[in-house]
This record gives sequence, structure tokens and C-alpha cells, in this order.
Amino acid sequence: MALIDLPLLMKDHVRGKRSPVTCALKCGNQCALGPCNHSDNPSFRDIVSSAISRRAMLGGTTAAIAIGVAGTQGALAAPQGAAPALGTAPALAPGGTPLDFTAIESVASDVDEFTVPEGFEWHPVIRWGDPLFSDAPAFDWDAQSAEAQKRQFGYNNDYTEIQEIPGSDGLRAVMFVNHEYTNENIMFPAGTSEEDMIEIGMAAHGLTVVELERESRKAPYTYVIDGELNRRITFDDDFEMTGAAAGSELLVTQDDPTGTLVKGTLNNCAGGLTPWGTLLTGEENFHQYFVTPGSESDQRYGIGTEATQRGWETRYPRFDTRLEGYQNEANRFGWIVEVDPWDPTSTPKKHSALGRFKHEGANVRVAEDGRVVAYSGDDEVFDYLYKFVSRDTYVEGDRAHNMTLLSEGDLYVAAFTATSPEEIDGSGDLPADGAFDGGGSWIPLVQDGESQVEDMSVEEVLVFTRLAADKVGATKMDRPEDVEPSPTTGLVYVALTKNSGRGTDAPADEMNPRSNNRDGHVIEMDELGDPTSPEFAWKILLLCGDPEQIDTTYFSGFPRDQVSPISCPDNLAFDSVGNLWISTDGQPGSIGKNDGLFRVTLEGESRGRVEQFLAVPRDAETCGPVIRDQDRTAFVAVQHPGENGEYGAHTSFFPDFDGTGPKPAVVQVLPTVQEPEHPFTDMGPGDEHYESVLWAFENGIAKGWTEADGTATFRPLQPVNRDAMAAFLYRLAGSPEVDLPRSEPFTDVRKGQAHYTEIIWAFQQGITTGWSDRTFRPTQPIARDAMAAFVYRYAGSPDVPRPTERPFKDVPESSQYAAEIAWLQEEGITKGWWDGTYRPLSPMNRDATAAFLHRLEEEQGIAFMSQAD
Ligand code: FEO
Ligand code: CA
Ligand code: CA
Repeated sequence: MALIDLPLLMKDHVRGKRSPVTCALKCGNQCALGPCNHSDNPSFRDIVSSAISRRAMLGGTTAAIAIGVAGTQGALAAPQGAAPALGTAPALAPGGTPLDFTAIESVASDVDEFTVPEGFEWHPVIRWGDPLFSDAPAFDWDAQSAEAQKRQFGYNNDYTEIQEIPGSDGLRAVMFVNHEYTNENIMFPAGTSEEDMIEIGMAAHGLTVVELERESRKAPYTYVIDGELNRRITFDDDFEMTGAAAGSELLVTQDDPTGTLVKGTLNNCAGGLTPWGTLLTGEENFHQYFVTPGSESDQRYGIGTEATQRGWETRYPRFDTRLEGYQNEANRFGWIVEVDPWDPTSTPKKHSALGRFKHEGANVRVAEDGRVVAYSGDDEVFDYLYKFVSRDTYVEGDRAHNMTLLSEGDLYVAAFTATSPEEIDGSGDLPADGAFDGGGSWIPLVQDGESQVEDMSVEEVLVFTRLAADKVGATKMDRPEDVEPSPTTGLVYVALTKNSGRGTDAPADEMNPRSNNRDGHVIEMDELGDPTSPEFAWKILLLCGDPEQIDTTYFSGFPRDQVSPISCPDNLAFDSVGNLWISTDGQPGSIGKNDGLFRVTLEGESRGRVEQFLAVPRDAETCGPVIRDQDRTAFVAVQHPGENGEYGAHTSFFPDFDGTGPKPAVVQVLPTVQEPEHPFTDMGPGDEHYESVLWAFENGIAKGWTEADGTATFRPLQPVNRDAMAAFLYRLAGSPEVDLPRSEPFTDVRKGQAHYTEIIWAFQQGITTGWSDRTFRPTQPIARDAMAAFVYRYAGSPDVPRPTERPFKDVPESSQYAAEIAWLQEEGITKGWWDGTYRPLSPMNRDATAAFLHRLEEEQGIAFMSQAD
């Protein structure tokens, strides 16, 4: 069968309004075949078995709400965020994030544009076919080859994560991207052979690691050809199985008698960044690549018995599990994969301990006792939500050890209870107690290395996890996608993308309260501050939809007429102040709008407010959001743009709009670059410390001089006097009110003198004590060691040990300001001179002082007195 004909052949297989091509190529027409889960599991568990559930049930409304509220307000301490902007009024954006924008209007689904808010612009960072290495050819629609594709960026970018490269001052980063699947109908010109489509299509699956660089924090990233960390991971690469199922009979094939080494990864959807800097990626709809005999487990995983859409089995017998020697091949997919992007030679792992299902992704956090916890959704209608708790504990700084943590531990599946079960009728009406809410427990499948499931071994539980979860009464959910803990509150958010079969194939319940759930919803779970807890409370945060189209939407009480319409939540992310960001997949089919990225306020009066930040072009979904709100930027992966077109009759021309077909691409959105004004005649772009000088000037910390001819100068090489230093720090602290003293602390500082108030303030705050003769010596240049002391005390005199060795070769550990200088060095505020000296008694020039303060405030986020005990 020629793949080119897919859209026609597939048109009868569509359920709901999903695009036929997506049904065929993304999920293998899974939903047309009906649910895979034929277990008798209730959709909610009416057996009240856990303490939390009992509390919630017995206490009814009050208990459950109290649990929820306590969590919402932050049972876990918020992490140290970046410092507030200098002396400016608090931002109006939710939670004080600097990423302020006016929500865009939703965009009709026939518009082929990438839409951003006023004052923002978008840039493709990398697109399908871009060469990662200089020996790879530039992309050519008419000369595609598997060999080239293996050295080029793959297709259908999904999960995306970006980590700064240490020591690069935020100018370089390493990006990791999944390539979930391929859209053959729009990738290949007519006449492309089936063999080429298979080989290139396979090479376009997999993963990419690629370095990025930018000229400044305000400039867009571009990718680096031949970056040291660049890597394409394809079917040529080995993946090592870990955990109890590694080496099991159930994983043995003709090609791998050890059952421990798998070639390739498949259909990688979402993922997560671990605390140790590796990436997790979920093998999701792997079923569509295999032909099987149709056993009980094949059926439960939705793996068919007929020829596949892409026909890989025609060239690679491993994809036909009816064949002797390959009966177990499908068991080698459906895992959480861990990749170390920092080592291009590392072997990625498939962690059997997290179970085998259609993993959307996995997100990890560290519990108080050091064990790590991973959450993962099984993205299928009426499937389940899982949690893994590691046996061993996290060790800060020991990456090799931490990379073993996902190999051994306990695996749980979620069973929910509800507070208002008898009121749920599928209408989506809010129960009388004012919330869709309840409790629940994590039911063990594997614990302490033992199977907790009757008649199943540990290996069987891990390889056939869906069958195991069926047996223990897990709760059927409306397609769990991303499951992600908030880094600021510890609450866990679950995106349930949609389920048109709710109400027909299984009844609505309080967790999934709408029949024919076209628009999906988001649940907030509270593990009461302990991620290892066997119990949880939950409530619905959003019932999605367009309030103008349906009246069953719910935004935690926020007015429906003040939100952006949102449908089919898929991927979740958080900004630095704890707002939730949601990307969607399916809005064209549900509410007739292009998919997008949305911010949801979680805290305060505006909880539940949804604001649309961007919309992707026609026939695309929004994936992999990366939010860097402190840099006022966000990234999305635009997946399958123009999927409903055909080669030569495209519906999208994103991202280049040059008349050729669409390409999936990772896009960065950032504020439109304002041409910086260059205020000084004696300094400009390219001069050392110029960016810091501009920063200090624009923020009112340092001023310039107006010269006789009317021009302005900064006098960068002029030494900073002690009074000017006091003034710099005073302004950096936000120019606070100062109570002037009745008697003067210094004999040489008098009212009316330059910087009088600032010097008094510095004295009152303990930043300066002056000299022992009660002088301050305001017009004397400040020495570099005294500058260190000023800055250290400004930060709040953090409790640091005296250094036991010289921080710089000319700063003995016993010298007066050794501790202060060592602290500055530790914080990265000073690096000293090129020759390893600090030159403590030298004066400090104005430009270097601006650089010190810039690093202190902007890069290290150290605000006035923020380090005080
Ligand atoms: Fe590939 Fe669950 O989305
Ligand atoms: Ca309720
Ligand atoms: Ca997804």
C-alpha cells in the first residue's frame, strides 16, 4: 500500500473530529478501534480504603477543601526565586513574573500563521532537516535520504528541554528534542519509493541533542552545527534495559538473546528533566508499528494483527511479532527512556521499573528522605496514572549514582475516590459541595522488589503493566497526558486531554465528570507535602472548552467570560513563580481554533484565569513548552504543521512560508528587540562591560555626565569614590526611605554634601563603618577589598566560613577581607584578574563596578539583605 494514499484510506476511521491523518499516523487509529481497557475497574473506587479518602468522605466538603487549600497555599516552601526587578513597582503579571503579555485572541483553525502577543516576535530555532553536522547536506525536498536524515534534525519535534551550559553566562545551552512520529503524506514528493519512505521515516524518528547559542540574553537562540554535544539518536543506537525486567525471558529476541539491549526508541512523546540533568522521554503509541498475533496483552496494548500503516515490518521482520524469534519485540517498547545529553557517547537506558504502557512522559522530583518520585500518565482513553518511588536516594553531585535511581523501586497506580459520586450525571454540573474533588490512594504493583499483583511475577507486572493495573482496581481516566509537580507548591497537575467515549464506554465520575469529554480537563493532586505518600487529595482545576460554545466549562470559579478558550490540554510546564503553562493538542477538531500555549494563574484571586500566549499554525499541535520567564521568553515545538495537506497541496507553509511544504520546528518567542540606545559618546557596543554599564544606566544605578558640548559620557575608567559606591548600592537597594540621624556618624560627611543620604543609609545598614578616626573619606577611591566588604554586607553578611587557603594568590587567608573576597569569588561576582590576583588595594573603575553589581543582581539574583540569616 502506498503511504501517499493514507488520507483517503483513513477517512472512515476517524472518531470525533480529529484529523484523519493524525488518527492514522499519530495513534494508529487507536480510538476508532474503541478502548483497549475492557477491565471491570470502576471509573472511581467506591471502596474507601485509605485514611485520606476516609477523612475526605466522612468530613465531606470541609475536610476535602481544607486539604486542598492547605496545599494550594504551599505546603512546601517556595524555592528561592530570582530577585525582584530593581526598585521597580511589582509587575502586574501573575505572581510577579517578568513575562508580562496581553493575551492573544484565539485563532481560527484555517489560519496558517504563528501568532504571538503584541510586542513579541517568534524565531525558528531549528527545523526538520536542518543539518546538525557540517558533513550533512542541507535539506532538499527532492533529494532526501536516510543517511542524510540521520545527521539532520528529525521530524515531529515533541518534548523539548533546554539547559544552560555552565560557565557560558547564559549564552550557550544544550537542547534535547523528541521526534515522535512521521507524516509521510506531506514529507515525500510523489514517486518516492516505499523503501525510501520507510528508511527515511525511520531515520526521522528518534531523538536529537543539539547545542544552542545567542548573542545576549535578549537575543534569539540559534543552533550550533558540529556542537560538541550534538547527537542524533536513531534505530542504529543501542538502549540498555535496566531494572527487574532487564534480561527477562519476556524481552529476549533472536537479535538480543540477553534481553537487555534494544535497538532504537519509538514514538517518543513528552518527557521530563531529572534533578541530575538527564532527560526522560516516554515511548507512547508504539503499538502502531507492530503486527502481532493478537494475544490478550497485544489487545490490551492495542497492537493490531494487520499490516501497519508505515509497513516497516515489510523490511524489518522484528516489527512482525508473529515471526519466530521476534515474539517479544513489541515488549521492548513502551518504556521510559533516560538520556544523558552531557555525554554524547553515553548509552540511553530504558527503565523497566517504571512499567510498560503508552507513556506520555515522566516527571521526577526528590522527596524529603532523598528518594526520587516519578509520575507518568498512560495516554489512552480509560487508562491510568502511575507513580514510581525509587529504592535508593538522591546524592547531590553524584550523577553516576543518580542515573541508577530509576532502575529499582516501587511502582504504584492511582485509585481515586470522590466526595459527590451520586451527583455526577455526565453533564459537568458542579456538585453541591462546590468542587469536583476527593481523595485516593496509590495502589502498589511492585513493592520492595515483590509483585503485589496476584498471579503475576515482578517481570510480568513490569512488562504487562496495564494488565497488572486492571487487576488492582485502578481508576480509568480520560487520557492522562503530562503529570507534573509544581516546583513552587509541590502540588501535582494532571492533563487529561479528552475522551469522547466517556459516558458510553464507561460512566462519567467526579474525576472525569463530562460525558463525551471533547475538551479535556486538568486535575490538581495534593500529596500533603510528601511525594512518597500512599495517599492523595485531588480537585479539578479546569474543565476546558470555549465558554462561548458550551456551558460546562469550569475555571476554579474564575469568571468564564474573562478567560481564553482552551481545549485538549496536553503538555504542562511552570514558570519561575509557579504559574502553570499548558500546551494543547486538538483544538482545531474541538473548538475550531488553532492549538496554542496558555498561562494559568494558580494562586490568589485570579486562580483559574487562562491567558493564551501564542497560537501555532494550521493543522499543528503545540508541544514541549519551555518557559524562561526571567528572560521573558518561551519555546514551543510545533508538531505536524499542515498534517491534513498532501505533498504539493499543502495546508501550511510554516515556518519559512517560502512556498515549499511545512516543517515541524522548535520556535522561540521573545520580546521584539528594541534597538538599544547608546547614550554615551565614550563607550559603545563591543566595549568591555558595556552591557553592564547600560544595565546600570537604564536601571538608574549609575549616572553619566553631560559634557560641555551637550553629549553624555560614562567615564568608564574613572575610579569609583567611596561616596559614589554608597550611592550605587543605595540605588540598587531601591532607594529606600532614610531616617536622618540627629548626630552625624562621620566627621567628614555633612548634610548638603554630595551623596550625604546614601552614605548615612550605608552606615545605618552596616554596609560601612568608616575609619577608626570617625572619617568616611568620601572622595577617596574605594579599594577593591573594601568594595568586597561593602557588597558582602549589602547582601546581608551571609554566614560563610573563613577561607582555609588563599582565595587569590595575593589575598592571604588571614587578611582583613579574605572571607568577603572568597564569598564574592564563590558567588561568581568576581573572577579576579587574568594572572590569578585580586589586587585588593587597587581602585575599582566605574565600568568594572557596574559589572560587579550586574552579576550580583541579574545573574546571581542577590538582592539587598537577601543572604541575611
Ligand atoms: Fe503523543 Fe499523549 O500525546
Ligand atoms: Ca465534590
Ligand atoms: Ca503529547
